[in-house]
Amino acid sequence: MNITIIGSGYVGLVTGTCFAELGNKVICVDNDAQKIRHLKTGHVPIYEPGLEDLIKKNVRKKRLFFNSDLKSAVKKAEVIFITVGTPAKGNGEADLTGIENVARNIAHCMTGYKLIVEKSTVPVETGEWVKRTIEIHNHKKHKFDVASNPEFLREGQAINDFMHPDRIVLGVESNKAKNILTSLYRPLKAPILITDIKSAELIKHASNSFLAAKISFINAVSEVCERVGADVTRVAQGMGMDKRINELFLDAGVGYGGSCFPKDIDAFVTISEKLGYDFGLLKEVREINLAQKHNFIKKIEDNLWIIKNKTIAVLGLAFKPNTDDIRSAPAIDIIKRLEAEGAKIKVYDPCAMPKAREVLKGIKFCKDPYDAARESDCLIIVTEWNEFKELDLVRMKKCLKRPLIIDGRNIYEPQQMKKLGYKYISMGRPKVL
Ligand code: UGA
Repeated sequence: MNITIIGSGYVGLVTGTCFAELGNKVICVDNDAQKIRHLKTGHVPIYEPGLEDLIKKNVRKKRLFFNSDLKSAVKKAEVIFITVGTPAKGNGEADLTGIENVARNIAHCMTGYKLIVEKSTVPVETGEWVKRTIEIHNHKKHKFDVASNPEFLREGQAINDFMHPDRIVLGVESNKAKNILTSLYRPLKAPILITDIKSAELIKHASNSFLAAKISFINAVSEVCERVGADVTRVAQGMGMDKRINELFLDAGVGYGGSCFPKDIDAFVTISEKLGYDFGLLKEVREINLAQKHNFIKKIEDNLWIIKNKTIAVLGLAFKPNTDDIRSAPAIDIIKRLEAEGAKIKVYDPCAMPKAREVLKGIKFCKDPYDAARESDCLIIVTEWNEFKELDLVRMKKCLKRPLIIDGRNIYEPQQMKKLGYKYISMGRPKVL
């Protein structure tokens, strides 16, 4: 199929590249001409394992193209995916200016039937607005359909998630749209759920909110564990063995971050409020998530007493492993708060340091974890990169001023740490002194 993807950000690039890999002819459009120039020369603006190679392969095979000319890209495609950003507005709502602009521009450029698919995470009823906008500007009355096809990719494993999804959700209003999208996705051999557009839009909000709730739930349980001396990882294991619960997204820690959960939960709370429903449960999910960062900082204070002038080594900046994304990353908030209290910060992250340099001034970026630990009063772990799980902890102990590790992701075994002579504090597990 001829496909145009409008918005060459995270979702757009992964989706476009994977559709090309499946044998379609794909044009990825973006109004940022410099981004398109970079992509044309093989420079991928985001870090996603495997993406750069796959882009290069499909460009070589002449199935993937980059363009800043929306008009020609719309003309050539039968299926157009909208994957532009929907940033938070500050009042919890998503800013849909980009979606409206794209809908209007598509309407102006249409030359025949088009299927316009919203893939950006959008509030329920956006599909309706996209349809109305196109109707208003579609002066030549070309036929078109609007559909919703929410994206469930996780950063760091986006290609695998695209190629092997748990499900594909298609919100459609016509048989034509349904047939086009089911045949486009057929090669993936994944379960396809066909719904109306509004239900598809809500599936995305409800799924992300549910996952965030699962994380906040286990974080709340971890607080109780700490108070009675139980181990949250064992509790999670026992809960997860129940198939109705399952073990995924039950890792207690410093809380969720990233460009999706915090923004999507805010948006869902706001949408519900606008519709006259007070989604108190989700508000609490948000509060618990916020509290986890405070709880973590409190552990640092409890163990260092005075933070001012202490040197703290921070391992991990990205909001999770295998990405360089620091948007709403717990590490950034934690570092800013420690800095405000007068701590000297030394950090190391395998990927996210270039991005962090733009937002964190006056801290020391180190060449490896040992360099960060050298002469530090304690080591804190904020992102569970595999590299940190495999550290030489004997060597690490020699680098630190004192053997104190405060682990916000529970990556080490407490008993093992005790044997190594560490004071090891983690999340929701008995202290090992
Ligand atoms: C999330 C969803 O998992 C995707 O399905 C969705 O498509 C995406 O948002 C989106 O809306 O675009 P992502 O933000 O890439 O994906 O990251 P996740 O792997 O879901 O992790 C989110 C946060 O939760 C991370 O900060 C992670 O550290 C935290 N987390 C995750 C926990 O604290 N505990 C867990 O058990 C799991």
